[in-house]
Amino acid sequence: MSMSANLPATGELRGKVAIVTGGSRGIGRAMSMAFAAAGAQVVVASRTQNEPRPDSPFYKYGSGTINETAQRIAEAGGEALPVPCDVTDSEDLRRLAERTLKHFGRIDIVVSNAGVDCESPVVDLEEDLLDRALMVNIRGPILLCKYVLPAMMEQKGGGSIFCITSGASMGYREGRVGYSMSKAALDRAYLCIAEEVREHDIAVNVLSPGRVDTWMNRRGDWPGTAHIPMEQPDSINQAAVWLAAQKASTFTGQRVERADFGITWGPGIHVPARD
Ligand SMILES: NC(=O)c1ccc[n+]([C@@H]2O[C@H](COP(=O)([O-])OP(=O)(O)OC[C@H]3O[C@@H](n4cnc5c(N)ncnc54)[C@H](OP(=O)(O)O)[C@@H]3O)[C@@H](O)[C@H]2O)c1
Repeated sequence: MSMSANLPATGELRGKVAIVTGGSRGIGRAMSMAFAAAGAQVVVASRTQNEPRPDSPFYKYGSGTINETAQRIAEAGGEALPVPCDVTDSEDLRRLAERTLKHFGRIDIVVSNAGVDCESPVVDLEEDLLDRALMVNIRGPILLCKYVLPAMMEQKGGGSIFCITSGASMGYREGRVGYSMSKAALDRAYLCIAEEVREHDIAVNVLSPGRVDTWMNRRGDWPGTAHIPMEQPDSINQAAVWLAAQKASTFTGQRVERADFGITWGPGIHVPARD
């Protein structure tokens, strides 16, 4: 069956199995669909399984369910498995790896995309909001690697892991102490993991998507970001598919910007290793 006009079939990821956390909407849904269009079997993981009510604040920005993302992939001729997963629950993460292996038999690509904001000046910061950002944006992505890596290393064919960071990890953004800190920690964690698994030919990279029109960025008015062009979620697709196809021997240990894809990194561009 052929893919829809939105999903040109490329075959770059044929035979590979991908896990995408936060696949129910936004950037995660776009990447899930792009991987499927490129031939991968995709595990779509996040918490929401059922349609939100029409008065839900998520409604405008996609239905926001893992089942709908998987259904859209199937309708476009791809293959997907929706798996409910709360990345703050380590048992859910362990089961995510287990269910992927049971259903598809391998894990080649893992994208840690699930993320939450933490908008508040520090004097007003609610402790629950800070704890949630630490759990979802740092602890979850690290434990995800803990549970997928044993199978990926055992397969011996290499693989690709990357996380979705933010420009906020590199500098000051008003009212975003918690978010900036969590994304900076995420960057460092993944760049360290890259070194741990280099010998297994597993690439680990960090991808910053720019300013994207999603639920998280729903008003498009994050302080200090107005100068950055607002993109649609599928703007990440080409860069994400290329990163997903990498191994440590081709491209690893890099923090890259989606907007620079094809300019400073990407096909045919040599990028020196970093410290
Ligand atoms: N939009 C931007 O401008 C922008 C810019 C820079 C970086 N980012 C990053 O891009 C990533 C995707 O964000 P987005 O803009 O697409 O936002 P979004 O539409 O709010 O999507 C966030 C995704 O994360 C999932 N998620 C949240 N908490 C979770 C949890 N505890 N367990 C499992 N999944 C969870 C959500 O699914 P459920 O609710 O179904 O669990 C949803 O699928 C995030 O890491 C974000 O920080 C976004």
